[in-house]
Amino acid sequence: MTSPDPELSPRRAARAEAERLATAALSLPAATSSPAEGAPVEPVTRRQLRAAATGAIAMQPGAAPARADASAPVGERSERSGPLSSVRAALAALPARRRRRLAITAGCAVAAVGGLLLIIGAVAGSGADATASATVDDSALTAAVAAGPPAVPDTGLPVPEVSAVAATATPCDDPAFTAALAAGDDTAAIAAAGGGSAFRAAVASGIAPCVSLSDPDREWVVVNKKRPLDPIDYRAGDLIMPQNVRALEDSALRAAAANALTAMVKAASEAGAGEIGYLSAFRSYSTQQSTYAGRVAVGGVAEADRESARAGYSEHQSGLAVDIVPCTGSCGTLDDVAASPQGAWVREHAWEFGFITRYAEGRESVSGYEPEAWHQRYIGPELARAYHEGGYTTLEEFFGLPAAPTY
Ligand code: DAL
Ligand code: ZN
Repeated sequence: MTSPDPELSPRRAARAEAERLATAALSLPAATSSPAEGAPVEPVTRRQLRAAATGAIAMQPGAAPARADASAPVGERSERSGPLSSVRAALAALPARRRRRLAITAGCAVAAVGGLLLIIGAVAGSGADATASATVDDSALTAAVAAGPPAVPDTGLPVPEVSAVAATATPCDDPAFTAALAAGDDTAAIAAAGGGSAFRAAVASGIAPCVSLSDPDREWVVVNKKRPLDPIDYRAGDLIMPQNVRALEDSALRAAAANALTAMVKAASEAGAGEIGYLSAFRSYSTQQSTYAGRVAVGGVAEADRESARAGYSEHQSGLAVDIVPCTGSCGTLDDVAASPQGAWVREHAWEFGFITRYAEGRESVSGYEPEAWHQRYIGPELARAYHEGGYTTLEEFFGLPAAPTY
């Protein structure tokens, strides 16, 4: 540190000290020659400073000044602008009268910004030329110091843009959809969602949390080895016998499924595919217990689990599944369906009436059951259309659910 020259007047001494501090702050070579030491000094002229500032301004956007700490977060850069604090110290060393004059000279905020750019330019753009000691006898520079650092210095670095992300549309925000759900009107809910495909997509993607695939009252309920009915002894409330369909058992269906079966059987007959009857539709929890136990007794648990659901895990308990049989005079068995004209017609047209073949060929690893050409599950016309047109072969994949090969 250079000691003050006792020969200097207080004003000149203060100015010399301010120059020294400013020079150090700007990382320029220390002024080894000062008026006090009798060596010539080449103060940086305003023109030179303007040139330096112009160099900084002329930099391309995104091109950081050579010595700018581009890696630092924006909020930290003003803290790392060491020259400002050092120059403030230099100003503090000036007599009060001198500081007042400098403050008046500061002018306005525009000059303040210009002064800051002068600093940046001097630091970054004129390193090679900055061999002379800088003086603080510059109004713009002083004004910049007096004004303090701007909130966010313009470093020329790209400023990240934050834009609002559009919320994903969900049918759960649609009053028409939620009203239909609340009313138990599955058809209206699917229509409000934009149809079967849109409904499926919303549910499978997880943006429709208001839709429960576990609600046994819904046509879209999914029941499998991982998804028992809830409650386990659920019994549908709107069971009716299908009209004009040969029933080999006294077995009902939920109203929508029953009416759809009636329509499908009629259409198959009119199309020349023959008569379709049915064996089993709704099965209560206790009936399913007996059915499953009978299978276990014949083939053991492992074999039974590939053919029959345990009580509480059967779609038959939902009232939405029916086992059809082909009838030509008398009716055949379940195993006759696949090779029958009725079975062929059902494969082509069941979806038009809201049914799907729930346990398809080759999908046991997902559905958990051997193929059952006879087991028709009602999911409603719109969802069945989406299922058919989408080429789905399991309800699990249709709704984006995990496979359920085992309990
Ligand atoms: N046969 C089907 C899997 C059931 O028992 O529900
Ligand atoms: Zn069945």
